Amino acid sequence: MADARRSRRFTAREESELRREVLVEPWPELGLVAADGPADPEPELVVENGRVVRLDGRDAADFDVIDRFLVAHGLDLEVADEAMALPDERLARMLVDVDVPRDALVRLARGLTPAKLARVVGMLDPVELMMALKKLRARRDPGNQAHVTNLKESPALLAADAAEAARRGFDELETTVGVARYAPLNALALLVGSQVGRPGVMTQCAVEERRNLELAIRGLVTYAETLSVYGTEPVFADGDDTPWSKAFLASAYASRGVKVRFTSGTGSEALMGHAQGLSMLYLEARCVSVVRAAGAQGVQNGSISCVALVLAVPGGTRAILAENVLAAWLDLEVASGNDAIASHSPIRKTAKLMGQFLPGTDFVTSGYSIMGRRDNTFGGGNYDADDIDEWLTLQRDWQVDGGIEPIEELEALRVRERAARAVQAVFAELGLPAVTEAEVEAATLAHGSADMPDRDRAADVEAADELLAREISALDVALALDRQGFEDVAEAVVGMLRQRIAADYLQTAAVIEPDGLVRSAVNDPNLYLGPGTGYRLEGERWALLQALPHVVDPRSLGAAVADADAIVEESGPAVPGSDPAEVVIAVGPAFADGLRETIAGLPHDDVLAAVVDGVREAGGSPRIVRILRAADVAFIGHDGAVLSGSGVALGLQSKGTAVIHRADLQPLDNLELFGMSPLYTLDSYRAMGRNAAGYALGQRVGPVPTELDNFARAKLIVRTTLLHAQEARAVVPGAAPVELEIVGSARQRPRSGRLQGSAPAAGG
Ligand code: 5AD
Ligand code: CA
Repeated sequence: MADARRSRRFTAREESELRREVLVEPWPELGLVAADGPADPEPELVVENGRVVRLDGRDAADFDVIDRFLVAHGLDLEVADEAMALPDERLARMLVDVDVPRDALVRLARGLTPAKLARVVGMLDPVELMMALKKLRARRDPGNQAHVTNLKESPALLAADAAEAARRGFDELETTVGVARYAPLNALALLVGSQVGRPGVMTQCAVEERRNLELAIRGLVTYAETLSVYGTEPVFADGDDTPWSKAFLASAYASRGVKVRFTSGTGSEALMGHAQGLSMLYLEARCVSVVRAAGAQGVQNGSISCVALVLAVPGGTRAILAENVLAAWLDLEVASGNDAIASHSPIRKTAKLMGQFLPGTDFVTSGYSIMGRRDNTFGGGNYDADDIDEWLTLQRDWQVDGGIEPIEELEALRVRERAARAVQAVFAELGLPAVTEAEVEAATLAHGSADMPDRDRAADVEAADELLAREISALDVALALDRQGFEDVAEAVVGMLRQRIAADYLQTAAVIEPDGLVRSAVNDPNLYLGPGTGYRLEGERWALLQALPHVVDPRSLGAAVADADAIVEESGPAVPGSDPAEVVIAVGPAFADGLRETIAGLPHDDVLAAVVDGVREAGGSPRIVRILRAADVAFIGHDGAVLSGSGVALGLQSKGTAVIHRADLQPLDNLELFGMSPLYTLDSYRAMGRNAAGYALGQRVGPVPTELDNFARAKLIVRTTLLHAQEARAVVPGAAPVELEIVGSARQRPRSGRLQGSAPAAGG
């Protein structure tokens, strides 16, 4: 019984961007299941004589490398008995109970096995997960991290973008390379640019570990988050790694005073073909347990590069939020994904974002692209330069701190130019291929690398190799800056080197303030215990985040035109008319007086002239009155109708909303209502006049054709409110209507030229 017909709505949806994405049913054998996989083990911990003999369904003899690592360095057997004995529901409730402090939960987490951790967070619904995340975040206030790259690896543009990102409040900046050999140059540009924007901002350059560590030791980068861990042994083995090798590497960074966090996230094991039939969330519980066991302070997690795969299975978004909660529960700093493109669908990716944005994580995005998408060599950002206004508006809408600050255009230009100049100076001092004046200018103003002059790329990569060979360090960079007159930037670079010796920023969730003070979970912990506690966006910070450069003072909109020429004048009280062809044009209290144009910008004198013309054209005789007692278009129209010889009137609010009314109708009923004032032209008002006269003369009248603009409200509701407020302020309660005469030549002034057929302009 096949039906070959197609619904146009279904075919239209098939064309949508969202439908480019393949959604799949769960296939647990391949690890394509978000949480609660059929093969996930029961939580289990058996300890004999202080030794773990069974863990999550496995005997010690069968432990894989991850189990062995967790047993050796992770599980805290002092609390394990107590923690594992708590029923799942009890732990799940503690996660969302504002009366259970974070500390108590963190203590218990150390005694929980991965299966138990996954089971418990798996019980929370999305809102409960957000609640838990809000409570469990390590540092008091949320922060953010930016991605800074460009296709041409232009040092001036990297520095300018880094400076702007730093100035916008990002605490960390991450770059990478299109071509590996660029690493030292990109790291250098980022370091210099960041410190121009705001001293204390940390930088990293994501490259192969040996090179990364080398850059870190030289002080050209200040943190690393490239240390990936995985939930199954074969994926570790594929990367030539074990939890021990990763822990060793982390210690290598930390021992040189470099902040380090790991990276993990759901989906990687399935993607690499070794999920061993286990769910994404359970495997991620193993990952974050490894990170904890390795002694790292934090983790970049939430699927990261695998996000689109996780979103392909049911419950994927929830699982990603759950893994952030797991990490926070284990007392890890969380830099939550939101960097790789999660979806073609703006709704879908923003819905996913809200899980981390609303509760706030230590870094709400582990890479917000400060450039346009095209220049993002991380593979396209979920949110980028072109979305900044949206992000800022969401912060303002929700009164939530997402870690990005608004800045004025001039300020952006200032820091961008200075950063480009600083990097130009350093290149000159260090004998690197020159950064030209044209590059500085372009980097200041550019949208992206397409606006940048081309460089000699061969010379750049050669210079990059040499930079490493010459063992240039951040100290050389600071000296170069100092010699070239950038003393403050030099000071800031030295400040970053000083941090590495003090090493306070190795504490959990550390960020560095411009004065060098480190804020972390140690000295500024999240002590959220319900309403009235923890971090709230308020005070100065709230004032800053709501003051977007394009926000306007409502007092400056729709202001009265005090010194404009009179359009109408009052000629006494309005009395009922007797002419059966009469159409009263009843205008609102402020019409052609305190207000002079409609919301569409049509001058009131032109509107009046058009209506009068329309009424006459259809054989009616117009009379203009002002209603003073009401601002509502229904009452304006009805009061007019009661005065009209024909019983028909056209009511006109100052903002341009109109109604055709008849005396015998209820005030809130009408013949025709014209509520789309922003769309009306003078022709529309002429047509309204014609129709009103038609009704007055008892003719058959077809309604004036109307258009719809579904966005009119969104665009104009503020202006509507302000115009209406002015109309309402002009109301005189109980006042009788007054007769109006059009003054001077207003009748003859078809300013817009849209008044076809009316008298020519009389010149003034
Ligand atoms: N699990 C582990 N590592 C990941 N990365 C991206 N996504 C994941 C994931 N889900 C890695 C990248 C890079 C580092 C910054 O993060 O491969 O090495
Ligand atoms: Ca990152």
